[in-house]
Amino acid sequence: MTKSKPLFGLSDGLKQQMARRQQETIVEAEPLELNLGDVRPSVQPVPPRFSDPAQFPGVKEYLALRQAGVALGMTDPFFRVHEGIPAATTRIGGKEYLNFSNYNYLCLNGHPEVTAATYEAIQRYGTSPSASRMVSGERPLHGQLEHALADFLGTEDCVAMVSGHATNVTVIGHLFGPRDLIVHDALAHNSVVQGAILSGAKRLSFPHNDWQALDDMLRTLRPNHERVLVVVEGLYSMDGDYPDLPRFVAIRERYKTFLLVDEAHSIGVMGATGRGIAEHFGLPRTCADFWMGTLSKTFSGCGGFIAGQRLIVDYLRHTAPGFLYSVGMSPPLAAASLKCLELLQREPERCRALRRAGRLFLELCKAEGLNTGNSAGLAIVPIIIGSSLGAINISSRLFTRGVNAQPIFAPAVEEQQARLRIFLCSEHTPAQLETTAKAIAAGLAE
Ligand SMILES: Cc1ncc(COP(=O)(O)O)c(C=O)c1O
Repeated sequence: MTKSKPLFGLSDGLKQQMARRQQETIVEAEPLELNLGDVRPSVQPVPPRFSDPAQFPGVKEYLALRQAGVALGMTDPFFRVHEGIPAATTRIGGKEYLNFSNYNYLCLNGHPEVTAATYEAIQRYGTSPSASRMVSGERPLHGQLEHALADFLGTEDCVAMVSGHATNVTVIGHLFGPRDLIVHDALAHNSVVQGAILSGAKRLSFPHNDWQALDDMLRTLRPNHERVLVVVEGLYSMDGDYPDLPRFVAIRERYKTFLLVDEAHSIGVMGATGRGIAEHFGLPRTCADFWMGTLSKTFSGCGGFIAGQRLIVDYLRHTAPGFLYSVGMSPPLAAASLKCLELLQREPERCRALRRAGRLFLELCKAEGLNTGNSAGLAIVPIIIGSSLGAINISSRLFTRGVNAQPIFAPAVEEQQARLRIFLCSEHTPAQLETTAKAIAAGLAE
């Protein structure tokens, strides 16, 4: 067998230097001398656009948008530093703001019982499981959280992972393959799209919430594929509306598809007791195959989960790369989410207060003549502005008036759909909501 040449030729001198270094116990390393003369020249010159990150098309677009913002004197709405626990209000730069920019829907983040549970978890288990649960073992909190979630939802089993985004990517990417078809709502979260791309399946989207369009697509396409996955969300995070789930369930039956419902924004928000969109419609848990959720929102932690049939959840627990090859959830975060789940069940009035705030804010905005798109007035109300710079501008004006609300612009949404996005929480008061609706209207009128 011929020995393959190393990709990057290291000079003998360099190799000797490295070997010497390994034997020595010098604390401070000296810079290595790279002898580029030993590296074979490239066959063809590489144009700067392929070697200079500043010339990546996305980077250039990003720089142009930043420069436009600076030229227009807008304050940067991103990476604002909150100096406490953001809920209905927050403290930024030493100043108090009305806050509409976080997913602390039920205001459980910082709840004394949640904080106490995390302290206790740290004292017992430290801050990190340090490795994959399968390989290095788990803590009791991992299993307790998963059992509690499965019980709450009424599924056979549940597996929790370290990131909501990674949960969708690894689950969808792992379960489906090139002979399959994945069809998702046009407004599906990026994690769903990334998972579908990773799977290698044919990926298509249907117009937002349009089950009839999906029906038409599957009538033609279903016979061309082995497995078909349909993905919808419980509550859409950009628009604050939700799908007519019974129709999608009927499509699942008719075409023998799998159905994944991403409940990132609907758990704790929809349904009389916060159990999400299935409870909202009075549907049994068996109406879908995969119930995905995140722990970063209602559950004040960090991570994602997949709940469903025991066999498939257990298969994911033993084989999904994003779970198997990634560290287990930090014990204090698992404890926080577990405690939030307990509080949600003990205090269902939190869900009702959130929904009251959502409904009232929607009414107030409509009374001010604001374009709230299709918002159902639950926890999310968009204010459609119609241009990226316009959305950044109004967000910046609101900030100077003491309101923290994020702009959403292209490419996250289409340019004409650029918007402010308002997230409500259970502790927003009618007075705060009225002030904000009026401030948005005044800012737009300027
Ligand atoms: C619908 C949806 N799915 C998945 C995620 C990813 O969750 P996480 O931010 O917890 O990783 C999000 C994030 O906001 C989301 O909105």
